[in-house]
Amino acid sequence: MSELNLILLGPPGAGKGTQAERIKVDFKLVHISTGDMLRAQVAQSTELGSKAKEYMDRGELVPDGVIIGMITERIAEPDASDGFMLDGFPRTETQADALREALDASGREISAVVLVEVPDEEVVRRLAGRRVCVKNSAHIYHVEFDPPKREGVCDQDGARLVQRDDDHEDTVRRRLEVYHAQTAPLIDYYDDLDLLLRFDGLRPVEELHKRIRATLASVRMQQRL
Ligand code: AP5
Repeated sequence: MSELNLILLGPPGAGKGTQAERIKVDFKLVHISTGDMLRAQVAQSTELGSKAKEYMDRGELVPDGVIIGMITERIAEPDASDGFMLDGFPRTETQADALREALDASGREISAVVLVEVPDEEVVRRLAGRRVCVKNSAHIYHVEFDPPKREGVCDQDGARLVQRDDDHEDTVRRRLEVYHAQTAPLIDYYDDLDLLLRFDGLRPVEELHKRIRATLASVRMQQRL
C-alpha cells in the first residue's frame, strides 16, 4: 500500500481542522471533514441538511446510517484514490467498523490515526473564540490564538467571519459529553490495531504541525520500504 490514509481523532476544538488544512498540503491528501460536508448540506437547505442541523445544534451526533453512506461513497471517489484524511469520522465504534469493512472490501487500509489531545476547559476556551469563514468553514481562526490579518475578514477569500451555531458554551459542553461517551472509546480501538499516534494539542499551532508532519513523514517512509 503506498497511499497515505489518515484519521484525525480528538475532542471538538482540539485543532483537527486547523492541522488538516496544513497536513493536506504537506502530503497532497484529500481532506474529508464530515462536519464541513454536513454544514454544506445545511447551507444548501437540503433534506439531509435540515435533519442534520437539528442534531448538530443540540451537540448530538447525526445518526450513523446517514454518515456512513456519505463517507464510504466519498472515499471511493477518484480524487481520494491516492490518499485521504478523515476529519470527524469515525466518531462511533459502528462507524469505525463500517469504515474497516469498506476499506477491506477494496483492498485498502488506514495508515495511521492522529490523536490530538486537549483538556475540556481548553476546548471551551478555544471554541468561544473560534471564528470561521462564512463561505468555507474549513477556513478557521481564533480571535486570540490565530487571528485573521483584518478583524472579522477571512485571509483566504475576503469573506465575513462568523461564530458557528454549535460553538455556544452549553452546546460545546454537550459535544464534550458526547465525545467522551461515544468517540473516546475509539482511542483504545485504534491503539489495539497499533495505528494510534498521540499528540499534545496544547502546543502552539505551528509547533504541533511540525511534529505531526515529521511523524507522518516517517510513517510514509515505512510504508514505502
Ligand atoms: P465537526 O465540525 O467535526 O466538529 P468537532 O469534531 O466538534 O470539531 P471542531 O470542528 O469543533 O474542532 P476542531 O478539532 O476541528 O478544531 P479547530 O481546528 O476548528 O462536527 C460538528 C457536528 O457535526 C457534530 O457535533 C455532529 O453533530 C456532526 N457530525 C460531524 N461528524 C459526525 C460523525 N462522524 N457522526 C455523527 N455526527 C457527526 O480549532 C478550534 C479553535 O481552536 C479554532 O479557533 C482554532 O483557531 C484554535 N486552535 C486550533 N489549534 C490550536 C492550538 N494548537 N492552540 C491554540 N488554538 C488553537
